[in-house]
Amino acid sequence: MKKYLTLLALGLAAGAATAAPKADIEKGKQIATTICAACHAADGNSGIAMYPKLSAQHAAYIYQQTQEIKEGKRTAGSSAVMKPLVTGLSEQDIRNVAAYYAKQQAKPGEANPKEELELGARIFRGGLADKKIPACMSCHGPSGAGMPGGGTEILAYPRIAGQHKAYVMTQLNAYKSGARQNAMMADIAKRMSEEEMNAVANFIQGLH
Ligand code: HEC
Ligand code: HEC
Repeated sequence: MKKYLTLLALGLAAGAATAAPKADIEKGKQIATTICAACHAADGNSGIAMYPKLSAQHAAYIYQQTQEIKEGKRTAGSSAVMKPLVTGLSEQDIRNVAAYYAKQQAKPGEANPKEELELGARIFRGGLADKKIPACMSCHGPSGAGMPGGGTEILAYPRIAGQHKAYVMTQLNAYKSGARQNAMMADIAKRMSEEEMNAVANFIQGLH
């Protein structure tokens, strides 16, 4: 009986391994340096506002967004620039490169002190009750590091700390217009004015 249980446990472990394939960070690094680095930088700390930073982002989120761009489901902003470069990648390649970028250290960005920093901080930490805008940190975390998705590993609230202000603006406007689809973010972005978006995006750029 004991032997049977051990075999059963081994069988279950093997089954679990096929259901969730493991990521190979070394292989991911190769893909990052040969393909992604041109835009996102080899360590994910892109210096160009149009290209989002990927360093320390949740692997599940990187995986999902890369898949969506590859499959033409995410087309907003400059996604079309990236699509042809990832169409040749397999799911395992994307899993590997996502795991690699998730392990890279984020370099802190800086906010512009001349731009409504206080309003930005207020929206991020407390929201704007009169406009029913929730605090960004209630989902993205007090330091903007995001949160893993309820233990499911499928959808995490993404990391937004230190992200380029211009990229954050593009995304908030894309959620507002429906060009990028997400029910939670659309509901929030639709309530925000351009000035409020600008203030919170500036605050996020300096958050670490
Ligand atoms: C030619 C430039 C280019 C290359 C190469 C490129 N990307 Fe991108 N990537 C972009 C742009 C531009 C965006 C932003 C799209 C938008 O405006 O919404 C983006 C967005 C992303 C996002 C979404 C980030 C977020 O915060 O939502 C992920 C994840 C991503 N890229 C991963 C990768 C990976 C992994 C590779 C390599 C396999 C790669 N990209 C190669 C240009 C590129
Ligand atoms: C109820 C939870 C929730 C709240 C509150 C919230 N977000 Fe989000 N946010 C999300 C989710 C979920 C996503 C991922 C959506 C997707 O997959 O496109 C996201 C994505 C984003 C992105 C895109 C990130 C990227 O890398 O492309 C930005 C920017 C963002 N949120 C900013 C904000 C700001 C600013 C606030 C506060 C005004 C805020 N969020 C409040 C849940 C939330």
